[in-house]
Amino acid sequence: MHRLGILTGGGDCPGINAVIRAVTKSALYRYNIEVIAFNNGFKGLVENEAWLIGEEAASGILHRGGTILGTTNRDNPFRFRVTGADGKVTYEDRSADALRHVDEWNLDGLIVVGGDGSLTLAHRFTEMGVPVIGIPKTIDNDLGATEVTFGFDTAVATATDAIDRLHTTAESHHRIMVLEVMGRNAGWIALQAGMAGGGDIILIPELSFNYGAVIEKIRQRRSRGKKFSIVVVAEGAFPEGGSPVYQTAGGAKRLGGIGQIVSEELEQRTGIESRATVLGHLQRGGSPTPFDRVLATRFGVAAVELATAGCWNQMVCLQGGVIRGVPLAEAIAEIKRIDPECEQLKAALAVGMSFGR
Ligand code: F6P
Repeated sequence: MHRLGILTGGGDCPGINAVIRAVTKSALYRYNIEVIAFNNGFKGLVENEAWLIGEEAASGILHRGGTILGTTNRDNPFRFRVTGADGKVTYEDRSADALRHVDEWNLDGLIVVGGDGSLTLAHRFTEMGVPVIGIPKTIDNDLGATEVTFGFDTAVATATDAIDRLHTTAESHHRIMVLEVMGRNAGWIALQAGMAGGGDIILIPELSFNYGAVIEKIRQRRSRGKKFSIVVVAEGAFPEGGSPVYQTAGGAKRLGGIGQIVSEELEQRTGIESRATVLGHLQRGGSPTPFDRVLATRFGVAAVELATAGCWNQMVCLQGGVIRGVPLAEAIAEIKRIDPECEQLKAALAVGMSFGR
């Protein structure tokens, strides 16, 4: 084996640079394999924006957030957005260009660092004969085959810090403070940060909530002398009989807005002043935690190991504390959501947290 390609797709996430560093350095140091980096995810593969990433470019990036390669969560090679001279947008299948560039660069295989969207695209390329290794990346922690994705720990740390800070105003002003966190249709960030930050009410997509139960919890707290409450809401959470809230600004449909709705509803129904904070992309930014740096490094090294062993079309994952490979098809088959019967949720309930039920 002489050459591997690497690209980072989907939303940025703390720890991607640690993966790029680990892949590049371990490929070079252990196997003398060159690494060709494609900029901006699959867009770079389609448009052949690629370069030889050496030791120098892979150095000094372990602690840096984002991705030095750039990324996009819009450019699907099988439905590629093309803007004509008249400004009109059309969509074309450009997967043949991507395949040609894999050939032209003489790649033995491609390492794709991505979440479920990018790994699903990667899987389509495996069906067209491109050898691929996937590395799971997402702050949402919603990939079924791995116990944890890198980026999640950093996002949880940021959200926990936000909850700690919101306590100050909540306590001083005797308010309800609502924090909306990311996570798409999984409540992992809300659950983990809610527990770590001592949130009083945690609302997750896996358990539709009931306003009456949320208000009851707030009243119980007040009767015990706790005049404030912290509500942590996952962006994908919704009330019983309702559905997730989306923002449609700019034509794109994105989850978001449930925090403000919950805040207004609680203020109106309890008479207690309430404020909403949307943590947004702060959860994706900044330096990765030590845990994420180490996990990203282990994933990057394991991806090169799988490639050199010829174990293609696998995704690296963490299972039972061990890094191994699982078939890519299996890895993308199911989104990992919180089991309402799980021990962690029961532990939160045991210490008096409410899920609005
Ligand atoms: O998947 C990561 C994530 O940050 C989600 O938690 C969130 O819903 C989404 O991406 C936001 O995407 P964008 O950066 O395109 O607004």
